[in-house]
Amino acid sequence: MEKHLLAVYPGSFDPVTNGHLDIIERACRLFDRVVVAVSTQVDKRPLFSLEERLAMLREVTANMPQVAVESFGGLLVQYASRRGARVVIRGIRAVSDFDYEFQMSLMNRRLCEDVETVFLVPAEAYTYLSSSLVKEVAALGGSVAGLVPAAVERRLLEKFRGREGR
Ligand code: PNS
Repeated sequence: MEKHLLAVYPGSFDPVTNGHLDIIERACRLFDRVVVAVSTQVDKRPLFSLEERLAMLREVTANMPQVAVESFGGLLVQYASRRGARVVIRGIRAVSDFDYEFQMSLMNRRLCEDVETVFLVPAEAYTYLSSSLVKEVAALGGSVAGLVPAAVERRLLEKFRGREGR
């Protein structure tokens, strides 16, 4: 595969999981630079504020010199074009992800022919992992150790301290 300079890895990252990190590491092996782009869309009612999500991502990718973390609003393809990226990375865990990702990649292509979506598959151990499940388990007092970086686990514990069972 031709090596493109810059790839954008967009998402909500509410919060970043070890599955996301696995995709970021894989992307770094294929691309020179990877911009992890956090959506500012508020209609998804995130648990963590934009600033918290950015801070967690920056903390857990601090040892990856190829990676930058930014936020973006508006259309993803417009942001990618502005940023000079021709590749958008998305992780696919299972068939259940496919419909939505397929739709989104074709809509993005319709909006901008020049931006190509590249799907990466995380390690098998993370195929069942999602930010939503992590939040649900943490909210109910379950352990999310090994599913998210330690810094994220700490913040989840802080968020939900004393709220179990509510
Ligand atoms: O982690 P998520 O929530 O699956 O990420 C979805 C995200 C943020 C990548 C997607 O909602 C997005 O690209 N939003 C930006 C607005 C946009 O371009 N919408 C049209 C997509 S076809």
